[in-house]
Amino acid sequence: MKTFKKIKVLAVLVVMVFIGIAAVKQPVNEEFKNLQVLPKNISADSLDKIMDGFTTMLGVDCKYCHARDKKADTLMFDKDDKPEKEITRRMMRMTADINKNYFQFNENVTADQVQAVTCFTCHRAEPMPAKMPEPVKH
Ligand code: HEC
Ligand code: HEC
Repeated sequence: MKTFKKIKVLAVLVVMVFIGIAAVKQPVNEEFKNLQVLPKNISADSLDKIMDGFTTMLGVDCKYCHARDKKADTLMFDKDDKPEKEITRRMMRMTADINKNYFQFNENVTADQVQAVTCFTCHRAEPMPAKMPEPVKH
């Protein structure tokens, strides 16, 4: 009985050490070089989801914000050559601020958990939000 308990404690410890290593390893993850708004230790999976969200909510593809390296024929995701990328950083901060300041009714919840307002709220799958329609003639 006692040995069983000891083994259980040991197993938990081993798992904790592994999680510990994973947790320590993540911040040193140098996969992403130029994150200014998103957390620098974000997982590749979470970043992918956010980027896919941008394309859906704005009705664009990756190259709308990310400049192409003509020689290598790849997108330079860490470069800031397109103004759309910097505008997007401002839009990300604004959207988080709106959620935090006007929709966060419970202090235990963070702005990105609220997501009452998203890019889609204004953009509706368009890169430029719709203009106000002409007034209806009576
Ligand atoms: C509406 C604009 C927009 C679109 C569309 C977009 N991205 Fe991004 N992407 C950004 C911004 C802004 C950042 C930097 C975020 C920051 O500073 O925290 C970024 C960062 C990244 C990074 C991290 C680069 C680094 O090393 O710092 C990768 C990788 C990336 N995007 C991939 C993609 C892929 C793949 C797609 C298409 C599925 C995509 N992005 C679509 C705006 C966009
Ligand atoms: C509260 C409404 C609102 C929200 C939320 C919003 N946007 Fe915008 N966005 C706008 C408006 C309005 C413009 C046009 C501004 C202008 O014409 O100067 C714009 C412009 C942009 C542009 C530049 C378009 C161009 O062709 O110049 C990008 C890129 C963009 N938004 C990305 C985003 C992303 C990504 C999000 C979510 C993180 C977002 N926006 C959230 C209202 C919003």
